[in-house]
Amino acid sequence: MKYSLSNLAASAAIAGTALAASGDFNVLTMNVAGLPAILQGNDVPGDKTVNSKTMGSKFSEYNYDVIHVQEDFNYHAAIYETDSHPYRTATSGGVPFGSGLNSLSRGQTKYFFNYNRVKWNVCSNASGADCLTPKGFTFIRKTRTNPSLTPVRVQVDEGIFVDFYNLHADAGTEPDDLTARAANLKQVADYIDVNSVGNAVVVFGDTNSRYSRTADAIRVFRTQNGLIDTWVELIRNGVEPTAESLCDNPSTTNYCETVDKILYRAGPTVDLKATHWSYESNKFLQADGNVLSDHNPITANFTYNPGTTLRQSNFWGGPWGNWFSDAPKLATLSKPKAASLTVRGADRLDGVSVQLTDGTTFSHGGSGGTAASLSLAANEFWTGAVLCQGQKDSHTRNFYIKATTSTGRTVEAGKTTSDCLTSTAPAGWQIVGFMGQDGDEVDQLAFVYAPQ
Ligand SMILES: *[C@@H]1O[C@H](CO)[C@@H](O)[C@H](O)[C@H]1NC(C)=O
Ligand SMILES: *[C@@H]1O[C@H](CO)[C@@H](O)[C@H](O)[C@H]1NC(C)=O
Repeated sequence: MKYSLSNLAASAAIAGTALAASGDFNVLTMNVAGLPAILQGNDVPGDKTVNSKTMGSKFSEYNYDVIHVQEDFNYHAAIYETDSHPYRTATSGGVPFGSGLNSLSRGQTKYFFNYNRVKWNVCSNASGADCLTPKGFTFIRKTRTNPSLTPVRVQVDEGIFVDFYNLHADAGTEPDDLTARAANLKQVADYIDVNSVGNAVVVFGDTNSRYSRTADAIRVFRTQNGLIDTWVELIRNGVEPTAESLCDNPSTTNYCETVDKILYRAGPTVDLKATHWSYESNKFLQADGNVLSDHNPITANFTYNPGTTLRQSNFWGGPWGNWFSDAPKLATLSKPKAASLTVRGADRLDGVSVQLTDGTTFSHGGSGGTAASLSLAANEFWTGAVLCQGQKDSHTRNFYIKATTSTGRTVEAGKTTSDCLTSTAPAGWQIVGFMGQDGDEVDQLAFVYAPQ
């Protein structure tokens, strides 16, 4: 993550149009072997509390941008004692209550908005007593916006968002384990299809799967979600291995396969590219050279850029209701342009709708409230919007919208509050659709931009 004001200013100056910021970030995933020592020694020498403190201090020393841990059960406090990442999820408990999944970030608080923990539908006791704890996966929608730059980015560049998933799939190789694990990975893939449609995604965690074990369903992320495995891409020249290649611990080569994976895809509004992959084993050793965990930790670096044909604003409102995105459909259209807008509201914002010149219509929210419409001229573009949010039943949602066109005409619905966000399309761009979360009102909303 290399946010800098000078980069932003420089890119804003290029060609007179606002270019959104680009940058990079890196991730680490590590199974921290935190089951109670009495249950599971993990064949790791030394004291688990001491080893956990060492892991925490290594997390800080190497300053990874985002870390996913698994099996973070009974020595969680020791890791957090020595780690200094400013944003970290709270433990869901030790064995048998917790999931063992946590995320640590050196981004800002918005990093953890939309944080869900989902339990597996299927588990197997055949080996490893996987049903003992509610293992599963977590889902985090993360913003790349640095707080000190938010005012700039909102008005000039708008948001870059990536959905991050942590997981720990069923372990073991008995038939029931393989069945449970395949069901686990399919559950994540199905969840991504619903909750990350139109978004860039990074899945990093302990899949307990190998490409060389054909009963493992690890390929589901490629076939169903279009994810790329960073290790396959960067270390294996794009070829998924079919022959087993077990790793030493610490691993002496990047070529061998581990069950921990980092997979990703770009989205229609954000470009994402993996640039580096490595085992980090030699950075995570005890003072005497012994390993800290029975898993080799792995890292990957990514660069991100705003999309060239679609971009998006930041979100306003709260993460409630069902996720939607018009970006995938918009990505298939040539020169989309708004022909008319309809917004509905009364005490709050009920619905938003845009019809494009080719007849494509995107509608979100419900049919309540009073409708207000605006037809745009051929040379008139929808260029900006104000959203205001408030509380309804203790949840944040949108209360008001005012849309503005390139000729200064407006249409509005709902009631203003004191908590509003103005989104303006970058120069030469326009609003053509939406993404966010809705029910019969518009809980959360962002705008999709395309070139005029
Ligand atoms: C696994 O074992 C636990 C503890 O004995 C038991 O409660 C659970 O029902 C078992 N689950 C399955 C799927 O066999
Ligand atoms: C990966 O990212 C980290 C953190 O930004 C950086 O220190 C490291 O040099 C990067 N590695 C490579 C090979 O780009």
